[in-house]
Amino acid sequence: MKGISMRHIYCVIIGILAAVPTAFAATPQWVIDGLLIEHPGRIQVEYLGQFQQDPPRYRVNFNGRAFTMFEGTIGPDFHSAQLWEHAKINPGDRVLEVGTGIGCLSIFAAETASKVVATDIEPIAVENTKFNAEQHGVGHIVDARQGDLFGPISPNEQFDVIFFNIIYPYNQETLHFWRLHERFFAEVGQFLAKGGRIYYQAGYFDNLGHIREMASANNFEIMEMNMWAVLRYHRQPMVFMLQRQSDI
Ligand SMILES: C[S@@+](CC[C@H](N)C(=O)[O-])C[C@H]1O[C@@H](n2cnc3c(N)ncnc32)[C@H](O)[C@@H]1O
Repeated sequence: MKGISMRHIYCVIIGILAAVPTAFAATPQWVIDGLLIEHPGRIQVEYLGQFQQDPPRYRVNFNGRAFTMFEGTIGPDFHSAQLWEHAKINPGDRVLEVGTGIGCLSIFAAETASKVVATDIEPIAVENTKFNAEQHGVGHIVDARQGDLFGPISPNEQFDVIFFNIIYPYNQETLHFWRLHERFFAEVGQFLAKGGRIYYQAGYFDNLGHIREMASANNFEIMEMNMWAVLRYHRQPMVFMLQRQSDI
């Protein structure tokens, strides 16, 4: 990408302008760690607390569905909601979600996709994803695998859609998280099918410059960029859709 085009600037401005009246019109309320968070999107995330003691199990509603959360996993939040709201899965797509958490996005994707591979570095997250996929009747489509980034993917596997929503830098102390994102951009091209799409979340407007550099250095183009104003919280989630420059 050679620079921020007027189209990208319009996308952000329109996103913010669209967010404000929507936020006042019908604000979904989120409960994360007891904090109510307002956001302009239509997908709600609601944490409903513990429903089982041994082993501990928690309930979270995401996009109108109930998911079980195991102890030690990371559940969905407004980043996940924004990512899912701006993603498009076509019938028959082969989908990869890197860092699936408890599997919410992969499970929704499995309703349309022909195959979903959901990976996570934490074994408990993989176990939790398998459990939720069975509960939602898509255990035969969601293939949950443990490992670091693309480690669990065979060299010959190809995906039409790849999701990436993993912690990103949000202050000086967390800049080291870029290393993970840089590895993602360096390796993702090997697994993205011709014409494929990457849905990538890395909030904070200040992150845009480095995201553009990583994309450009690896021959990707930012095709869409959507930003939310999340009221009463310190993040500005941003979803990007990227494609290979040679596919455009
Ligand atoms: C914030 S959660 C996101 C979950 C899900 N993608 C979503 O949007 O709701 C990030 C997940 O990425 C996993 N993760 C972190 N580093 C990873 C890595 N190097 N490789 C694979 N997964 C990783 C974490 O264990 C966690 O479950």
